Amino acid sequence: MAELENIQNLRENFKKHNKSCFILGASGATGKELLKEILKQQLFSNVTIIGRRKLTFEEVAYQNVNQQVVDFEKLDEYSASFQGHDVGFCCLGTTKAKGGAGEAEVKIEELNFDHCTIFKPALILCDREESRPLEWCARKILGCLSHAMSITALSVPVSTLARAMVNNAVIPSDKKVELLENKDIHRIGNQDETKTS
Ligand SMILES: NC(=O)c1ccc[n+]([C@@H]2O[C@H](COP(=O)([O-])OP(=O)(O)OC[C@H]3O[C@@H](n4cnc5c(N)ncnc54)[C@H](OP(=O)(O)O)[C@@H]3O)[C@@H](O)[C@H]2O)c1
Repeated sequence: MAELENIQNLRENFKKHNKSCFILGASGATGKELLKEILKQQLFSNVTIIGRRKLTFEEVAYQNVNQQVVDFEKLDEYSASFQGHDVGFCCLGTTKAKGGAGEAEVKIEELNFDHCTIFKPALILCDREESRPLEWCARKILGCLSHAMSITALSVPVSTLARAMVNNAVIPSDKKVELLENKDIHRIGNQDETKTS
């Protein structure tokens, strides 16, 4: 209960500072949910999504979302798109093979952000439009197991992950770089009962 009141107070306090954020990968499963949660909580006075293509939104809640289309192969030419934001969320798709296990953390540390949190979810439970047969099977099996046995080690609902990212942004931390594993994501994402519908 104290934790719930605390996160609500932190949110209210955060809102007073009229902060601005950008989201990379807002067209993906995690990014989509994250954007929805950010707009629902109205934590930021300015929300910009940065991607390689323009997205179309029907809902009124999205009408003030700014969009920047960039060429990820020539990011140096688009540095202005990333400037002037207090918080950046990165939900870009990559694989362990492409990212290099552990290498990403080291490289991010070198960028010397004021504060950086790396989320390491297990299987993300979500409804995906595109076809990924192996992921689909794992999601179905782990989704059922999680419901039946309260297993949280192997998977995380995408809504919990998105809430964890947003909650974490308002929680003060003195760590320069922190790494959140699946169990931490469940804990932080479930700090309140605000569910994304
Ligand atoms: N899914 C899981 O179960 C799982 C589990 C653990 C960790 N993760 C990691 O979590 C991250 C997000 O996963 P997700 O499932 O939400 O990803 P996703 O649905 O595949 O979305 C990927 C996002 O990244 C963008 N993107 C991909 N390649 C790009 C490129 N070359 N240039 C620019 N944009 C690019 C996509 O944009 P477009 O729409 O334009 O393609 C999309 O917005 C990934 O790094 C993944 O490895 C996922």
